[in-house]
Amino acid sequence: MESNKKVSIKLLTREDKQQAFEKTREQFDIPGVKLVLITEEYYEKALELCRDYFVPDEPLNKAFGLQYTEEMESFWLQFLKLHLSLMFVDEETGEPIAFRTTNIASRGEKLDLNSIKTNSLREILRFIFYCDNEAGFFDYYGTDEAFNFLGLVVSRKYQKRGFATRIFRAAVDMIRHFGFDEVYIKGAGTSNYSKKIYEKEGFEILYETFYDNYEVDGRFPIQNTGEHKSMKEYGFKVTQKQS
Ligand SMILES: CC(C)(COP(=O)(O)OP(=O)(O)OC[C@H]1O[C@@H](n2cnc3c(N)ncnc32)[C@H](O)[C@@H]1OP(=O)(O)O)[C@@H](O)C(=O)NCCC(=O)NCCS
Repeated sequence: MESNKKVSIKLLTREDKQQAFEKTREQFDIPGVKLVLITEEYYEKALELCRDYFVPDEPLNKAFGLQYTEEMESFWLQFLKLHLSLMFVDEETGEPIAFRTTNIASRGEKLDLNSIKTNSLREILRFIFYCDNEAGFFDYYGTDEAFNFLGLVVSRKYQKRGFATRIFRAAVDMIRHFGFDEVYIKGAGTSNYSKKIYEKEGFEILYETFYDNYEVDGRFPIQNTGEHKSMKEYGFKVTQKQS
């Protein structure tokens, strides 16, 4: 795309996304690992990562006992279809290694929680909306929209080798390559490890909620999160490089 011409994230075309991705891919080099933009041919592999690792292992999903249902699958698929999400695939076997999913967040947008049938998913979203509200991202940055970092996952056997950090960086780079004059990323870290990454990569901490303090109707629904004690909300202003 021509630099600095886009005024809204929502106006990015499929071609803009492909071009920004190609620029990111050119700079990417991990032997044996392929960086892909999640498009139609990769939906299934991305959903596999979601079903096998993100749903069972992410601290909030775990605490609420989230199950992978058809509703969950459609929930994730709608975001993948934006073609803003990245995945690492083993070059030799084609096995999915990691994803960093991204969608678009807008000021004032509302999701009717009653439309969510899966109880645990509804309660997780209720918690996230509560934190979003407290964090006040849009007022803090004086913006009406942002790229929103959703799920980050690495399949178990590839963890603790820097893959999450690398795919996180690639996702920020891809956003940089859209060439906006001014654009922001909104994100949340629910695990100690993802929080480390956000902070290492220079994201600002806007808000922190401790899981065991979160109260709904006199109950404290987020328990047993082990070493992961809080969720932090982050923001980042993307600047033109840096490398
Ligand atoms: C969170 C997750 C994506 C991290 O993936 P990863 O590839 O192992 O992460 P990295 O190797 O890039 O490590 C990031 C940091 O966390 C640390 N870390 C990762 N796993 C760790 C573990 N099991 N124990 C202690 N530290 C760990 C790393 O040492 C690194 O810290 P450093 O930069 O100070 O060295 C992965 O654990 C996962 O998929 N968890 C389940 C889903 C989830 O919780 N997602 C986060 C939602 S916001």
